[in-house]
Amino acid sequence: MRFFGRKKKHGAPASVPEHIAIILDGNGRWARKRGMPRTAGHARGAETFRRVATYCRDIGVKYLTAYAFSTENWRRPPEEVAEIWRLLREYLDETYERMERDRVKVRILGGREEMPEDVRELLAKIDEKSRRIDGITLCLCINYGSRDEITRAARLLAEDAAAGKISPEEITEDSIASRLYSAGIPDPDLVIRPSGEVRLSNFLLWQCAYSELYFTDTLWPDFGEEDIDRAVAEYNRRDRRYGGVKG
Ligand code: FPP
Repeated sequence: MRFFGRKKKHGAPASVPEHIAIILDGNGRWARKRGMPRTAGHARGAETFRRVATYCRDIGVKYLTAYAFSTENWRRPPEEVAEIWRLLREYLDETYERMERDRVKVRILGGREEMPEDVRELLAKIDEKSRRIDGITLCLCINYGSRDEITRAARLLAEDAAAGKISPEEITEDSIASRLYSAGIPDPDLVIRPSGEVRLSNFLLWQCAYSELYFTDTLWPDFGEEDIDRAVAEYNRRDRRYGGVKG
């Protein structure tokens, strides 16, 4: 199913959200149901992300964000953390090699200080290449936590205020947004959380103020193109009013 030019029953064209954000969840349960180690679920989840990202690009999504590793995920058993980072490295290496051909820009949302040195070096190279590419923007939330992000922005503003660069009255929503990891990226239109959990788990709390939220029981490794189609169809049924009234 393709959304370009498709007409909904009542005649209005089906619109593809400009920005879709996904919480990758359910990998562990997917593996457990099959008697496999949790890490097998993450490997399958990474594969699913490759397919879903390609599909989102093909239907015209301009920004795709994935919550891949949170600031809280460090609390998991060391072997699971190590495997997730191995998969992330593999994905980042592969993305670095292919991003020009696939016309994918990458933005990393998350604190880099805690990341291994080789990953930080790779991310710097990805940042550099991304500046020269014009295409879908893939935002990977790695070592990301929304409260951490907002705290960091508050600290940057406080430093500027203490240095006399801005006065407290000059602090606006825009000056906060421009100090978040997501600076310059439009807010998500649609947030998808698979696996039956109905919460945001410290994901883009500032940015999702007016996002449409879509929850489904499908576990992330089972997610496919039809699930994206279903979420987009549901998005098209929503009436976004941003606190105003219709018309
Ligand atoms: C949540 O499922 C998933 C994670 C914490 C890790 C997701 C990371 C990857 C799939 C690695 C590669 C990522 C990319 C973008 C290529 P869970 O383990 O909490 O599932 P559960 O709730 O069923 O236990």
